[in-house]
Amino acid sequence: MSELSAELHRELGLLVDRGGHIEWVIVGDAGRIYLPDIGRTRADPTRLRGLRLIHTQFNGQPIAHDDVTDLTLLRLDLVATISVAGDGLPGDVHTAHILPDDPAGKGWAVLPSAHPSQLDVDVVALVSGIEEELARLERARAVAGKGERTILVSVYTGSHEEAEASMRELEELARTSRLVVLDRICQRRRETDPRHLLGKGKLEELLIRSMQLGADVLVFDQNLTPVQAKLLSASTDLKIIDRTQLILDIFAQRAKSRDGKIQVELAQLRYLLPRLSEKNRGFSRLTGGIGLRGPGETKLEVDRRRINDRIARLQREIQALGRQRGQRRARRRAARLPVISLIGYTNAGKSTLLNALTYSEALAEDRLFATLDPLSRRLRFPEEREAIISDTVGFIRDLPPDLVAAFRATLEELEEADLLVHVVDASNPAFEAQMEAVAGILEELELTQIPQLLAFNKVDLVPAVEVRQLCARYRALPISALTRQGLVALVEAIQQRLFGPPQTRSAAG
Ligand code: GTP
Repeated sequence: MSELSAELHRELGLLVDRGGHIEWVIVGDAGRIYLPDIGRTRADPTRLRGLRLIHTQFNGQPIAHDDVTDLTLLRLDLVATISVAGDGLPGDVHTAHILPDDPAGKGWAVLPSAHPSQLDVDVVALVSGIEEELARLERARAVAGKGERTILVSVYTGSHEEAEASMRELEELARTSRLVVLDRICQRRRETDPRHLLGKGKLEELLIRSMQLGADVLVFDQNLTPVQAKLLSASTDLKIIDRTQLILDIFAQRAKSRDGKIQVELAQLRYLLPRLSEKNRGFSRLTGGIGLRGPGETKLEVDRRRINDRIARLQREIQALGRQRGQRRARRRAARLPVISLIGYTNAGKSTLLNALTYSEALAEDRLFATLDPLSRRLRFPEEREAIISDTVGFIRDLPPDLVAAFRATLEELEEADLLVHVVDASNPAFEAQMEAVAGILEELELTQIPQLLAFNKVDLVPAVEVRQLCARYRALPISALTRQGLVALVEAIQQRLFGPPQTRSAAG
């Protein structure tokens, strides 16, 4: 090989199987070889490819970047390079192999180099050692990880701080969706490319990292266009999920009522539909498991037409449910019970507050979007007055328009509200941005005319001086739904807003 290479001034390569048979002969140019398409495989994470690459090289860089990329992405048994001297005689042979569980985090290693006449590598033993290690790691992962193993990816054009905040929220969303987050990868680009979200080098780096960490899912902080999703899926067997799909996934896990379930499925189908028309080969990788679990799970493999039929049927059902809701509301109005709606950014503590105010058992969890369906309770005031108090789904920045529409039924309730109690997580560094997001959504829904009370929650986590300043600045009431601090004052303020000040109240009733 060495002699031939020198004679042709080209790098030569062989792909050799474990039995020593040559499967491919590759003739490159003076600088590199180009591997044939041997396909990708990720069928069994504990096995290597069963092929080793041996090639000549002139440039004196024994293991080049391309070698490492091929080694890791194609999961080759090993890559060996033979240095060729000007006279055609072989110099040293350098060998690289995958190193599972590499403490240095690189994921590959090189053997000591040696002259061909001195080479003494038991390749079969080396490869079976690596595969045993891969199998051990896989067993450990199966025991440790209950959720799917995920890398979060952000490709952003704005400021670093914004991207960071958004990424933190994505991490919360991933946790809520019971994903195991292994790593986060960010890339700033000057402008977004409608086709390729990531640069080629960055994508390679991402895929290598996924291999090293044994990831199953890539979650993108940005919403992917159908084309981007398609191109990404074509380059990897990993599941590709974007922000909207992640949110929908959470909704799907949480929806309890018929109403909520239908709306989630509708949103999932509508998101899917334009992507189906792309007819991308890799689309199956986008379906199933995370991203599309819950209500839509079994139905999403069906074709476009059936999806359209299903959308039509769900829409009819939702209209019927809307009428029933209207009747319920009419009854409530007839009973003249005022309605208080708790609103606020997701995880602000609305469910906890509802529980604390009504001693009920709504689900309060430290996961985003714990509340999905409208939850209504009776609230009894000290003076025997009553009101209906209802919890709403958490608001979120950049809620995709489809989702706002899909969750209209939840937010529809707000139109009936006599008072909105806006719950803010005062302990969250981003609380101001969250307040703005909530205000924006209220505006979109044309609900700004309803009276509002602002409650700064979780004050048990914030220094008292700061709480005083914040509450004065925003004219808010400090509360802690957890320690019940400030709840008496909140109930008094609600009462006052609904029924007027105490004197009028006693005179009236
Ligand atoms: P979504 O349903 O996602 O919109 O959330 P939510 O606003 O209903 O929040 P939830 O009541 O589920 O509370 C979220 C987390 O905040 C839970 O872990 C609560 O225990 C915690 N929490 C709520 N109120 C307080 C509080 O006053 N102090 C502290 N320290 N934690 C609180």
